[in-house]
Amino acid sequence: MNPLVIISRKRDGLALTRDQIFDCITAYVAEEIPDYQMSALLMAIYLKGMNADETCYLTEAMLCSGDQLALTEGHGIVVDKHSTGGIGDKVSLLLAPLLACLGFRVPMLSGRSLGITGGTLDKLESVPGFRATLSPSEIDEITTATGCVICGASDAIAPADKLLYRLRDVTATVGSIPLITASILAKKLAENPAAIVFDIKCGHGALMKTPAMARELGRSLIDTSGLLGLSARALITDMSQPLGMMIGNTVEVREAWVAMEQGEPHDLIELTLALATQLLEMTGRQDLQPSLRKTLVSGEASRKFQEMIARQGGDLEQLPDPAWEYVESPQTGYVSDIDSEGIGRLLITMGGGRMRKEAEINHEAGIKLNYKIGDQVRKGQLLAGVTSPSDSSVLDCLASMITIEPESPELRPLIIDTMY
Ligand code: URA
Repeated sequence: MNPLVIISRKRDGLALTRDQIFDCITAYVAEEIPDYQMSALLMAIYLKGMNADETCYLTEAMLCSGDQLALTEGHGIVVDKHSTGGIGDKVSLLLAPLLACLGFRVPMLSGRSLGITGGTLDKLESVPGFRATLSPSEIDEITTATGCVICGASDAIAPADKLLYRLRDVTATVGSIPLITASILAKKLAENPAAIVFDIKCGHGALMKTPAMARELGRSLIDTSGLLGLSARALITDMSQPLGMMIGNTVEVREAWVAMEQGEPHDLIELTLALATQLLEMTGRQDLQPSLRKTLVSGEASRKFQEMIARQGGDLEQLPDPAWEYVESPQTGYVSDIDSEGIGRLLITMGGGRMRKEAEINHEAGIKLNYKIGDQVRKGQLLAGVTSPSDSSVLDCLASMITIEPESPELRPLIIDTMY
């Protein structure tokens, strides 16, 4: 295999064969292709794209670069969800236990926060004792016993993705639809799911800024999944404001836990139910639809959540409950805009997120919204809060991210589209 031939073909806009893609990925993982040649190939893919077959081969090659979970059979249909990440997105914390309560098996391999996007593992590590690193046999045991687990993908899962992502990150090639598709799917396919639902966030707090971009990624994820025999659907969902009222690690775990007892906040509950509905339909289990909401908010899913965390070494009862300091609304009117991206950045400056992979996180740093877009607020009411600000400028900065206008704004739907 001559990498030059493969790079030149892609540079000239020609399709690569299955063998060429497999050879390239295998050789790169074996350190037989240098970073400069792989970077050139990534840039050629970024600029010239890949057709559906090539994307499928790349996904398979990345999947085959590592291990796959071998779960003991007979303990429920394996399903999962992948979110492209957003501000305040804690859906996994509700969805995994909900599906487990309904008899599904959810070996959810999740990630950490990077940049403005939060990470499920960082959230769960706010729980004292929680272990995010599990061996394949522990994943098997815990999902056999409780139906769900949320943990990190070990280095043995899709190692090609880790190596390629590191290069993409420093060569301005992250934002390529075929590369994103293969990266997401190689990790999810390692779980061997029967069905998967994608939550593709769209808006200024998300990777995909416009509905058109989000649909393009959705199409690619669904079509590539289909070619690989995996049943998949996607919801395009609004990220023009944070999901729920809490943004941070500890505070999002608490919000998810309370939501499973009280049925609020509305957007978090509705999105969780919508994603679960897609999985019920794809697996032919619509008979479970009537019990979905009750299972989520009656305490059943909450007990399952607590059980899952306990099996992973954590004690939810020990979750810290940070104190809040609030900023008042400067005027009367309607909330017309919330700068999600700005809020994500503010959390990073408070220590609650990271710009570099190796950075430490302050789990208790958090932001709380008291109002969402469309809500009426009066001057002097507590608009939003932060946990232990270092100075008042943090609160002023937060207040500046919430726009209040005299007229009620037009509301955007939470679920913009469903893709099949
Ligand atoms: N998430 C991933 O796992 N990979 C990407 O390339 C982008 C988002």
